[in-house]
Amino acid sequence: MMELGYAPLTPWLPGRLPGMSPLAMADWLHRDEAFAAQMAYRDRLVAERGEIVLAGEGCDGAEELLDLVLATLAVHDRDYEVGEDAVRRPDSETVALDRSRPLATLGRLTQEDFVILRKGPEDAEHVLIGAILCFPSRWSLAEKFGRPLVAIHERVPVYDVGLAPRVQRLFDVLTPDRPLVRANWLLHPISELHQPKLFEGNKKPHDPTGRFWLRVERQSILKLRSSGHAVFSIKTLVTPVEALTEDQRQSLIAALEAKPKAMQDYHGGSAFTQMALAALRAL
Ligand code: HEM
Repeated sequence: MMELGYAPLTPWLPGRLPGMSPLAMADWLHRDEAFAAQMAYRDRLVAERGEIVLAGEGCDGAEELLDLVLATLAVHDRDYEVGEDAVRRPDSETVALDRSRPLATLGRLTQEDFVILRKGPEDAEHVLIGAILCFPSRWSLAEKFGRPLVAIHERVPVYDVGLAPRVQRLFDVLTPDRPLVRANWLLHPISELHQPKLFEGNKKPHDPTGRFWLRVERQSILKLRSSGHAVFSIKTLVTPVEALTEDQRQSLIAALEAKPKAMQDYHGGSAFTQMALAALRAL
């Protein structure tokens, strides 16, 4: 199964953006019960849809990131066998370590997607220079590649003059081996993990059954020691709303009811929010 039978994170509970907390390197990467199914899907996406899921292959910092992920897995996850030329994953699949394609290789190692951002001496902000992104939630690398943080978030109403400098400051004070973590949540009318936004008119598909899935992104930022670039990781967890606990369902309803109009519009309009609320209340 590519989805979980429970919701391990509850980012809709009241908190203040950007809401990032420190993380030990041992907890930087997460593996869960959906690993085997998600990794099989990632293998396929990397093989067949490289032009969608990869950008900036071989960019500065990509090989350093691959080495860091390999070293982290070797030390902190006994179920990986990390060799010189290949890695045996916990699902027993073997991934050849192709150093000429570090991002494509990374895409087949963990459930996390990775984005590399660089801030040059002349830049005020970090700029997206490379990524492996198998599980985007309705955005595309082609649209964000080469762009700085504020421009990447131009459609996001809460990413405003209050929030943007606070996020940039977090990137500026990052230190190697001290990742920061946050989580983001969305409700989707389909469970599909790979949802690149292919063009402007690509509207949210409405599921005729009226079912909803909670989509949580566990996101981290981390500084690479040698290049100094920032890494943004995204692990996507999908849970059918039927699997929420009663407390989770009630608090999610409260969060949806409190969602500002601008964010409702950004997420597909108030009709979509009302449909999701009706589905949650009916459970
Ligand atoms: C680490 C600090 C960050 C914070 C606090 C933050 C915050 C947010 C928020 C609140 C949203 C709206 C989510 C929603 O739909 O409810 C968002 C969307 C998004 N974020 Fe971030 N973000 C961060 C870093 C990044 C980075 C490093 C990237 C680099 C790729 C990124 C890419 C995006 C994209 C692509 C979207 C969707 C934008 C769209 O629909 O056009 N974010 N972010």
